[in-house]
Amino acid sequence: MGALSGPLHGGAPSRALDTLDAIGTPDRIDSWIRERVLAGDRIMGFGHPVYRTEDPRSRMLREIAQGFGGPRAEFAVEVERRVEAILAELKPGRELHTNVEFYAGVVMELCGLPREMFTPTFAAARVVGWSANILEQAQDSKIIRPVARYVGPGAPVTVPTAVTAA
Ligand SMILES: CC(C)(COP(=O)(O)OP(=O)(O)OC[C@H]1O[C@@H](n2cnc3c(N)ncnc32)[C@H](O)[C@@H]1OP(=O)(O)O)[C@@H](O)C(=O)NCCC(=O)NCCS
Repeated sequence: MGALSGPLHGGAPSRALDTLDAIGTPDRIDSWIRERVLAGDRIMGFGHPVYRTEDPRSRMLREIAQGFGGPRAEFAVEVERRVEAILAELKPGRELHTNVEFYAGVVMELCGLPREMFTPTFAAARVVGWSANILEQAQDSKIIRPVARYVGPGAPVTVPTAVTAA
């Protein structure tokens, strides 16, 4: 649950909507996105730590958003199209596509949920899976030992001091 806190994971759907609001109109998409990417900012709702292709959940949620129809859904589709093209140009080889958060925000808004309820709703939907994990864990009650692999610099090597004979 703690991993859902913060702007880059659980907070992403509402921030993706903030992005749509900040862009405002289709003629501003390119300049707004370019400026942010060139300044080193991340565009909310794009990129994924694992998927290097379109997040399949994003495709399903886009269809649901388009099923609702209306200017918000149409604008989101246009922003997605332009952001993907701009990221492909400015960040070649990174394969940045929409993640589940982009259209999740659009769909939750179209369902009438207030933005501050997005993360709790997302969390509530996962409670079933989390509970299943707890039940599985309880059946085989072993201590979980996450694997940790050190990837930092090696230990410093002491350089022997030269001793010159008198
Ligand atoms: C989800 C996320 C944290 C995954 O990051 P990651 O796989 O660790 O990718 P990296 O941080 O290694 O980024 C790889 C490159 O792509 C760029 N990049 C990644 N996501 C980006 C985004 N949304 N917008 C612009 N550039 C992005 C990074 O700046 C980096 O560029 P560089 O190689 O020039 O430094 C990242 O894509 C992100 O911050 N997305 C926006 C937040 C979001 O939508 N979160 C919901 C996730 S489900």
